[in-house]
Amino acid sequence: MNILLLGSGGREHAIAFKIAQSTLCNRLFIAPGNAGTAGVGTNVDLDMADFAAMGHFVLEQHVDMLVVGPEAPLVAGIADYFHQTPELRHVLVIGPGKEGACLEGSKDYAKAFMMRHNIPTARYQTFTRDTLAEAEAFLDTLQAPYVLKADGLAAGKGVLIEPDLATAKAHLREMLDGKFGAASASVVIEEYLSGIELSVFVLTDGQHYLLLPSAKDYKRIGEGDTGLNTGGMGSISPVPFADKEFMKKVEDRIVKPTVRGLRDEKIDYHGFIFVGLMNCGGDPYVIEYNVRMGDPETESVFPRIKSDVVELLEHTARGTLDRASLIVDPRSAACVMMVAGGYPEHYEKGKVITLGEEAPDVTVFHCGTKKGEGDALLTNGGRVICTTALAATLPEAILKSYNRAATIEWEGKYLRRDIGQDLLKLMQE
Ligand code: AMP
Ligand code: GLY
Repeated sequence: MNILLLGSGGREHAIAFKIAQSTLCNRLFIAPGNAGTAGVGTNVDLDMADFAAMGHFVLEQHVDMLVVGPEAPLVAGIADYFHQTPELRHVLVIGPGKEGACLEGSKDYAKAFMMRHNIPTARYQTFTRDTLAEAEAFLDTLQAPYVLKADGLAAGKGVLIEPDLATAKAHLREMLDGKFGAASASVVIEEYLSGIELSVFVLTDGQHYLLLPSAKDYKRIGEGDTGLNTGGMGSISPVPFADKEFMKKVEDRIVKPTVRGLRDEKIDYHGFIFVGLMNCGGDPYVIEYNVRMGDPETESVFPRIKSDVVELLEHTARGTLDRASLIVDPRSAACVMMVAGGYPEHYEKGKVITLGEEAPDVTVFHCGTKKGEGDALLTNGGRVICTTALAATLPEAILKSYNRAATIEWEGKYLRRDIGQDLLKLMQE
């Protein structure tokens, strides 16, 4: 099979790395890719928003499968474009159509879906500029902290957690007045859930599903979960507190009703569902759905998948996932992200990276990197590169990942030193 993977981050390098290991993969293209994906396939300079150009490339190169990494092309309707264009209809597409992508593209849509299917989530209501008075009255009924969410995609910045009522009301008004553009013309206000977050990943063909390994990511820039939000500073898989009993609750209360809901509502869905969960005293609640894999969760989840990934994806596209089986490496994975100094605010690109020595059971995944003159490897983004180590125990995986990360250098490199430490502490309690 010839495969085209869309995206350019660490998630895509990890997916490409597994696809390239499959005996079912003939040629692998990544658009636009990064310096890491260039090592496992062929990067192509395609604009992910230009569906016609993508279709043209797919026909020209006899691509059989399109795997969509990020959410934007899905929300923009790339899967529908392929299904509705006669010459492209035969292409297997991994990723939902526009309607399924609303689970990520609209918080209000996702919440209403959860309500219809009795899926546990925080109590909420959605408001617009016309219902500001009702929105303020709803805030009055809630307790601090207050959670305000822009309905649409806001590059991961659309959620505000407010410490007091006055700030919540002031920021609510700003959001409805266009703080996040059209994305915050509607705002979801919801109850604050307190607990520990984790992510669960599902691969579904719209009828059947496989539960992929769980993971936890570290969103804040600073140690001890302080400072600004980032794309993610590291991840751990599996999550030790997500034991059999907890995962059974997740499956029964969340995963099954979600897949059943998609099927009953005739939403054509062939792809990943990333369920962001809060563990509230042993009970899972959905914080959000994403219609793709997480980054950097993929970098710790995918190295643990021992089954042939292309075979799983083919079953996903064809609706035969009931015939597939998932083999997972029982070892723990720890991913440590290295970022450019200044990230997530102002940072520089184009710094020369030295990669250090390879280490057994550690994979280096590229995020924002590109090839420079000669053999030079240059930084090309905020999140630059990460190391994922596999080991029999979580403490060993963390140590191995940090040891490898220490050998990677560039001017201004920054990493958090506490990835996974909260989980180790929990395990000792
Ligand atoms: P989201 O973009 O929906 O993932 O929200 C961003 C982050 O805000 C989440 O990862 C949580 O840490 C936090 N968050 C969102 N909703 C809630 C909630 N209802 N209660 C507590 N924290 C929340
Ligand atoms: N790591 C969170 C995300 O991919 O959205």
